[in-house]
Amino acid sequence: MTTMILAALEQYYDTVPRRGGARGEDFGPLTLFVQEGQGWQYYARPALGGPEATAADVLRVLERQRELKVPESFEWVAETSPSLRAAVEAAGLHVHAHPLMVLDPGAQPPAPHPEVRLLGADDPLLGAAVTVPALAFREPGTALGSAGPAELAAALADPGVEEHRARVSGMLADGRTAMAAAVRDGLVLCAGQYNPVGDVAEVVGVGTLPAARRRGLALGVTAALVADARARGARTVFLSAGDEDVARIYGRAGFRRVGTALIAEPAV
Ligand SMILES: CC(C)(COP(=O)(O)OP(=O)(O)OC[C@H]1O[C@@H](n2cnc3c(N)ncnc32)[C@H](O)[C@@H]1OP(=O)(O)O)[C@@H](O)C(=O)NCCC(=O)NCCS
Repeated sequence: MTTMILAALEQYYDTVPRRGGARGEDFGPLTLFVQEGQGWQYYARPALGGPEATAADVLRVLERQRELKVPESFEWVAETSPSLRAAVEAAGLHVHAHPLMVLDPGAQPPAPHPEVRLLGADDPLLGAAVTVPALAFREPGTALGSAGPAELAAALADPGVEEHRARVSGMLADGRTAMAAAVRDGLVLCAGQYNPVGDVAEVVGVGTLPAARRRGLALGVTAALVADARARGARTVFLSAGDEDVARIYGRAGFRRVGTALIAEPAV
């Protein structure tokens, strides 16, 4: 069962960058995804069905990433490509491990949170909803923090917010993403997304304003995303949790660990 799920995830990981406007450059056992338009910069990852990469393969991709001035980044699943970690480390990169979790279809879903709702492409709160996770990821971990409504208001004044909002709005309009947010008194306190490809959906970018943490908002947003994904036909819903503390929260939403997602970046 896990083997089938991991195979579906490989297909998903190979499709998302292409659908997001990236071209795949072929490096034998590795594929480098290069953004051709505006949008997220992608990474290199194992080619679908390819052999295991060596350190020399990794070095060839790194050279190309430097030439293109794109992030020197690699992402893969440890259980699917077991020897890639050693090859990537031999090439001098630092590897981060994240619990890879899949929704247990038999899990009892948490009760819907009264302050959580889905956001459409034209929602007036969309700018805030894309900004809250960005603020949240600046304070990693699950602890209560200081950044609250004042910091959100300051972040919303950044001219880059409109570009981000417009990009997500386009993706909401054509169904490439869905977004849920926890809203109190007109303020977005937590938001997250899922990106469907066929009947597989990945939950991404769930973040709670540091001052609003530990009230069950992320659980509420995750539950709303899962319910919507399933209602729209997703049979496999998965995510990579930041760490074990975050994984515990997703466990309450019905996710179970199936493997380890690895991300390699230059050592600092
Ligand atoms: C991870 C994150 C999204 C969690 O957001 P959150 O809204 O605080 O999450 P929840 O409130 O649902 O759960 C957090 C904790 O509060 C507890 N909690 C929930 N409601 C509570 C309440 N009413 N009273 C006290 N504690 C409560 C939960 O049990 C959980 O406890 P645990 O850490 O011991 O397991 C947030 O910390 C964050 O944005 N972190 C940085 C970004 C990030 O890592 N995102 C995840 C990407 S995978």
